[in-house]
Amino acid sequence: MTPRVDLADLDLWARGVPHAEFARLRRYEPVAWSGEAPPNSGFWSVTRYADIVAASRDVATFSSARGVSFEEPTDADMAARRTIIDTDPPAHTTLRKIMSGSFTQRAVAVYEHFVAGLTEQVLDAGLTGGELDFVDAVAKEVPIRVLARIMGLPDADLDQFIDLGDRLIANTDPDITDVVWGRDDTDAYRSYPFRSPYGKQLWDLGREVIAGKLAAQARGEHDDDLLATLLRAEVDGDRLSQTDLDNFFSILVVAGNETTRIAIAQGVLAFCEHPGQWDRLRADPGLLGPATEEVLRWSCPTHFMRRTATADTELGGAAIRAGDKVILWYVSGNRDEAEFRDPGVFDIGRTPNRHLSFGRGGPHLCLGVHLARLEVRVVLAALARRVARFELAGPPRRIRSNFTNGLKALPVRVELAR
Ligand code: HEM
Repeated sequence: MTPRVDLADLDLWARGVPHAEFARLRRYEPVAWSGEAPPNSGFWSVTRYADIVAASRDVATFSSARGVSFEEPTDADMAARRTIIDTDPPAHTTLRKIMSGSFTQRAVAVYEHFVAGLTEQVLDAGLTGGELDFVDAVAKEVPIRVLARIMGLPDADLDQFIDLGDRLIANTDPDITDVVWGRDDTDAYRSYPFRSPYGKQLWDLGREVIAGKLAAQARGEHDDDLLATLLRAEVDGDRLSQTDLDNFFSILVVAGNETTRIAIAQGVLAFCEHPGQWDRLRADPGLLGPATEEVLRWSCPTHFMRRTATADTELGGAAIRAGDKVILWYVSGNRDEAEFRDPGVFDIGRTPNRHLSFGRGGPHLCLGVHLARLEVRVVLAALARRVARFELAGPPRRIRSNFTNGLKALPVRVELAR
């Protein structure tokens, strides 16, 4: 038995997440093989929560070094564009140490005041009552500005960061990029992030920002943002190479922006579809913590991470061969009935809620987990104070991608609280 739907069919995902097929796979064939058109050779779909966590933990067998997407990059491609997310231990541990101090719960808590003030400004401008595109007016505005503050990005470049980040993470959607992976010949861009010319543009922009920072440091200006930390970092007595800096820059901009935007936008969509849960949150702000986790479980901004088997092995009853591509479908694990009671119910009081939206069990657990939680919680809290009711004002438009659960547009009608 193989999956009945083609999980690599992006037009299918543009219509919606194939939850029914995932439920069937979890039940009857939890680790299932699908063939793929050349140059790709096929992939295993891991759909049960426990198997996903087990594979994430076993980094010796399930490696990230061949990238985390469906693409089949060569060694040379990977050497040019390898980021922390596609590095295995022990090198991964060294890279992670450079940044982990900036992302602890305590380090991130310092930004709460900033995130709250920024959110109020964004809502003052974007939420005027009546109809609006929530992605454009609100969701898109908060995460990039938080990231800019933490990383030390100039305000003047923010629109460009949003645009380039969108073209990368949605590199399969012709509405968003004119160079579509899987459709166009992308061979010339294979050494750039997401195999896209816009990956190169993001690197170039990063280099400009870094040059500005170095010039400021030479003038004796003190800064303690994340880019300054990266510039000071040493590995075995050496500063980071230009390649390392390029790739740190691109992963932070892409990983820290779109994902959080998706969680916020998909969260509001969930509340449009479950107005009783919105009333419940407004009546009891004590539910903000569990509501944040439920929004993250439900929205699952990153549907999967890919691993590559380093040896013949067995997982969930399937015989996996060395070199096979293995897709860990977090979006399916988040609805696994063996882990979650009534997983198809959006319940903002759900506890426990050990969802997989940030990964789980392995060393690649999202670095920005505390920051992302803080942003989602602060935005939900501010919305709950201001908005009595959300209603859909038209169909949401999904990004054509099986990787991201992004929305291109979320038309909503907002009834402001009195
Ligand atoms: C709701 C928002 C977010 C979601 C859903 C999310 C999701 C993820 C996922 C699924 C992974 C891979 C986990 C694995 O392989 O097991 C990851 C890794 C990562 N995330 Fe996030 N992320 C979010 C926000 C952020 C933010 C705000 C930042 C930084 C500013 C960030 C930076 C990173 C980095 C650097 C990695 C790679 C970590 C490593 O390989 O060690 N993420 N994220």
